[in-house]
Parts: sequence; structure tokens; C-alpha cells
Amino acid sequence: MRFSQTYWLNYKNLKPERVSWHEGLNVIIGPNASGKTNTLEALSMLCGWGQPRRTKLKDLINWDVNGGAKLYSRFSGEEEISVLIKINERRSIKISGKQGNASVLRVYVPSLSFWSDDVRLVEGPPAVRRNFLNQLCAVLVPLYARKLYDYKKLLRHRNYCLRRGQPDGLIIKAMAPLAAWLWSYRRTITDLLKIGLKEVSNDLLEFDFDIDIKEGSEGFFDDPLEGFYKSLFALKKEELNKRVSLVGPHRDDLIITVAGRSATQALSRGQRRKLSVALMLAAAKVVECKMKRRPIILLDEVASELDQEAKLDLIKALLKGGWQVIAATADDRVSNFPGKVLRIYQGGIST
Ligand SMILES: Nc1ncnc2c1ncn2[C@@H]1O[C@H](COP(=O)(O)OP(=O)(O)OP(=O)(O)O)[C@@H](O)[C@H]1O
Ligand SMILES: [Mg+2]
Repeated sequence: MRFSQTYWLNYKNLKPERVSWHEGLNVIIGPNASGKTNTLEALSMLCGWGQPRRTKLKDLINWDVNGGAKLYSRFSGEEEISVLIKINERRSIKISGKQGNASVLRVYVPSLSFWSDDVRLVEGPPAVRRNFLNQLCAVLVPLYARKLYDYKKLLRHRNYCLRRGQPDGLIIKAMAPLAAWLWSYRRTITDLLKIGLKEVSNDLLEFDFDIDIKEGSEGFFDDPLEGFYKSLFALKKEELNKRVSLVGPHRDDLIITVAGRSATQALSRGQRRKLSVALMLAAAKVVECKMKRRPIILLDEVASELDQEAKLDLIKALLKGGWQVIAATADDRVSNFPGKVLRIYQGGIST
């Protein structure tokens, strides 16, 4: 799928404007605070994702106006649809004129967004890699986001009980099937990611590497439910001492190694950035293969730390993928860009 034309009104600092998008590569160039990230966030919401973390709904509406904000897009590609999102005290979604919801929209318009933190996918904290995996799972399995939300709610509850020394047996009973469900999907998706990586890494990387999921359990268990209960038993004392939950998908990590060594140690900074980009492209391959729809890829300042050669390799790989890509950067040294260049200044986009 792809954006063909978008329109927004009163969304953050963005000026009300119709923007036509190229079916292939698009790059938005503008100085700091011009609205690049805001634009990508608006596009990501139009594909069914929630508002950016730690942002309240009311802060999506331009601070200087009374009333709500609107986001609208026409999409084409595998099918033609329109999406209208209204943001007031709550968010409402219409898909081709009919009331819809975010998880249905994510199936219509699969998309993956990568933000500047994601360039540290390899050496960043485990949460960066978990978010990466969660995004991919949520695109592929519509129920995933809901189950993860329920799991996190129970986890907060359990941590509260552990801090206060209160019984948590009932919470564990409710958490266990959710933890097992999340683990089994993360296993499946990690296996698919490995296949995707084989396809993209030849074009981008000059070294071999391995990835694997390390679950937040004491060892690996074929049956994730059994793994959850056995790990709880094994770590019971430690959990009571530390007063925090140490077992479950919230402790998972994606382990990346090069010839048996951790990728953080074995690779240079530039190589780690390239590997992060390869992981993003592999995710796009997986989505395309499983959903039989081309995902839209949103990239915010992802290439800024790559050298010229790596940037060209990335552009080639994106072209080869055939996806619609909308990237944003503050770096205006773009020449011979094989797509559409859009300029943004004080929230206004021009081509
Ligand atoms: N609700 C809002 N109303 C008006 N302006 C807002 C609102 N929310 C955020 N902004 C402003 O939008 C501006 C642009 O933010 P954005 O993060 O999109 O910039 P950017 O172009 O990505 O900058 P950078 O290159 O530094 O990443 C910020 O200065 C912020 O104050
Ligand atoms: Mg930004």
C-alpha cells in the first residue's frame, strides 16, 4: 500500500496542506523543529498506530487553536481506501467512510516506522529491540497489541504487589497464558526475521552475524507456559528480595552476535548502524511476505549516521524492495535523489 495524498488540519505545528506522495522514495528535508518528526508521526497514525509515547491526545492538537485536529489520507496500491482520523478528547477512525479501529487499519495499511533511537538497535538497551519486535509482531498479528497491553497492565499490578509484599497468585494465573502467547509469537516472528535478514544482508553488510531471542526466563523451554511457571519458581527468592518481577516477555532481548561475540563489541559504530538498518529492511520483507501487501516505511533520521557509501547502499536496497518510503532528515546535502524531495519549514511542506 502507499500514501497517495494526505491532508491535515490543526495537527501540532503542521500547516493545513495537501501533500502528494511519490509511490517510491520520498525525503522530507528541513531544519530542526520544522515539523519533520510531527509529519512522520501523523503518517504513522494514519496507518493505525497510536500517538507517540508520553504524548497526550490533547497535545496532538495545535496549542493555539480551539477544537480538534484532523488527519486524512487517500491510499492506493493493493486497494484504494481513504482514512480520516479525528482527534478531540478521543480519537475516531473512519476507513473509506465507515467507522473503523486501529488494529483493522494496521491490516489495511501495514507500515513500519523507525525513529532516531532505532539506529541504536544493536547496542541500545533491550527495550529498543523489544519495541522493534513488538512493532513487527503487532503488524503481523492484529491481536498482539491488545495482548501486550493486557500483559503490561498485569505486570504493573504484580510489581505493585511485590513491592508491598502482597499475594500475587491470582495475577500470576492471569499473566501466565498471556506471557506464553507473547513468547510463542515472538519466537515465530524471530524465525521469520532470520529469513528476511538472509535476503537483505548480502546487499548491505560485509560480515556475518546471528540473531536469536533470549526470553526473560530461566533457560529455554519448548513449552512457554511451563517455562513461565518453572522460571517463576526458580527466581522466586530473587523476586521477593528485589521486589520486582524478573520473569516474562518484559525481560526478553534479541541477542545479536558476530562469530560468537556480542555485536556491540565485535562491530564498529558504522557497522552497527548498518546492521540496524538491515534489521529494519528485514522486518519490511517479513511483512510483505506474510501480509501479501507492501508495507509503507517511515524513517526519521535513520541514515544520518551512515557514511556516503552506506547511504547509497541503503537507497539501493530500498529501491530494490519497491516499498513506499518516507524519510526525514535535517541534512540537506541531497543530490540525485531517486525519488521526491519535499522541503519543510515552520510546519509548511513544499516540493
Ligand atoms: N500541539 C502542538 N502545537 C504546536 N506546536 C507543537 C505542538 N506539539 C509540538 N509542537 C512543536 O513542533 C515543533 C516541531 O517538532 P518536530 O519534532 O517535528 O521537529 P523536527 O523537524 O523533527 O526537528 P529535529 O530536526 O530537531 O528532529 C517543535 O518545536 C514543537 O514545539
Ligand atoms: Mg525530529
